[in-house]
Amino acid sequence: MSSEEIVAESGKYLMNTYGRYPIALARGKGCWVWDEDGNKYLDFITGIAVNNLGHCHPNIVRAVTEQCKTLMQVSNLFHLEKQVEFARLLVENSFADRVFFCNSGTEANEGAIKLARKWGGANGGKYKIVHARDSFHGRTLGALSATNKKYQAGFKPLLPGFKGVPYGKIEPIEKALSDEKVCAVLLEPIQGENGVILPYENYLKDVRKLTKKKGVLLMLDEIQVGMGRTGKLFAYEHYGIKPDIMTLAKALGGGIPCGAFLATEEVAKNFTPGVHGTTLGGNPLAMSAGLAVIKTIMEDGLLDRTTASGEYFLGKLAVLRDSYPGLVKDVRGKGLILGIQFTSPEIAKDIVTRAMGKGLLSILTEHRVMRLLPPLIAGKKEIDQAIGIITAALDEASDA
Ligand SMILES: Cc1ncc(COP(=O)(O)O)c(C=O)c1O
Repeated sequence: MSSEEIVAESGKYLMNTYGRYPIALARGKGCWVWDEDGNKYLDFITGIAVNNLGHCHPNIVRAVTEQCKTLMQVSNLFHLEKQVEFARLLVENSFADRVFFCNSGTEANEGAIKLARKWGGANGGKYKIVHARDSFHGRTLGALSATNKKYQAGFKPLLPGFKGVPYGKIEPIEKALSDEKVCAVLLEPIQGENGVILPYENYLKDVRKLTKKKGVLLMLDEIQVGMGRTGKLFAYEHYGIKPDIMTLAKALGGGIPCGAFLATEEVAKNFTPGVHGTTLGGNPLAMSAGLAVIKTIMEDGLLDRTTASGEYFLGKLAVLRDSYPGLVKDVRGKGLILGIQFTSPEIAKDIVTRAMGKGLLSILTEHRVMRLLPPLIAGKKEIDQAIGIITAALDEASDA
C-alpha cells in the first residue's frame, strides 16, 4: 500500500486518538527511516526517545533474533537469567538496589506510585504525591493524576491525593510538604513533553534537601531522559543527587516494549509477594533487547559521544537563534534532548512541517517548541544535515 492508502485505512479502522503525520513509515536503519513511497528521512524523533541506538542496531537485532528462537515468554512465576542480569546492570550503574520490570512508561509510574504509597503507609499513613503541574507521566489513571490537566479532561474523577505545583520553583514544594500526609515528590529531571524545560541548576538538589528534611521520597521519572539521552546513563547524575525511586521505559528496551521502576532497599522492601505484578513485564524478549541496549551504551562510549554531539548541536542552534531573532526565541537542551522555541505557535508548526518536507523528522511540542531527539549514534555529519534543513526551512519562512 502507498502512504496515502495506509493513512486512509488508519482513519477507518483505528481509534482516532493520535494527531499523526500523514506519512506511513516502512523501514529504518541507523539515523534514517524510509516511508512506504521510498522517501528518506533523518529521524530525530527516534520513536519519541526510544531508538537511542538508532534503527535496527545490529546488537539489538542479534539479541532479539536469538531470543525469539529460544524463549519469548514464561511469566514471572519463574526465574530468568536475563532478567537478573539486566536488573544487576541497572543496579550496579545507578542509586538503586532493586528493580521491577513492566511494559511501558505509564505502567512504570503506576507501579512507582503504588510503591511510594506502600512505603508511606508503613511510615505514618502518608499517601499524597506532589508533582509538577505541567508534567507528563502517562495516560493510565494514576500517572494521569500527576500529569498536565489538559490530558485529564473527560476522565475525572482521577485518583485523590495528588497536588500539582509549578515546575522549577522550590517554594511551592516547600509549602506542599507542610502537609504531613505527603509521601513523595514526583518530577521529571528535564521536562520533555512540556517543551524541553530545564529547571535551574540546583533545583533537584534543593528538592532533595527538602524531601530529606521532611522524610518524603523523591521519585524521578527518567522515562524520556534516562538511558543515556542527556550524556549520563541517568539524568539525575548531572545534579549530584540520588532519588529513592526512578522510573524508566522508552529507550530501555531499544524498541521492544519495556519499562521499569527502581528503588533503594529501604523503599523496595515494602513490596512483598503478591502486592504488585505483571504477566509480560520482564519477559525474555524485552530483557534480551534491554541487555543489548545498556551494554552497547556502556561499551561503545555513547555517553561521552552524546555529550560532545549535544554541545555541538546546541552551539549550532544558538547560531540559528542569533541569525533568526524574528523566528527563534530560545534554544535549549542537555545531551541529545534539544528544543528550539519559536516566536509563535504558527511559526513552530510551519518550521516543523517544512523540515519534514525536506527530510527531517522532529516533534512539535508545547510552548512553540520543535523537539529534537536524535539517536545517540548521530554525529556531526547528521547534525550538520539537520541544521542545513532547519536553516532552509527558516529561510523559506522568512521569505513567506
Ligand atoms: C516523562 C514521561 N513519563 C511517562 C511517559 C509515558 O510513557 P508511555 O507512553 O510508555 O506510557 C512519557 C511518554 O512520553 C514521558 O515522556
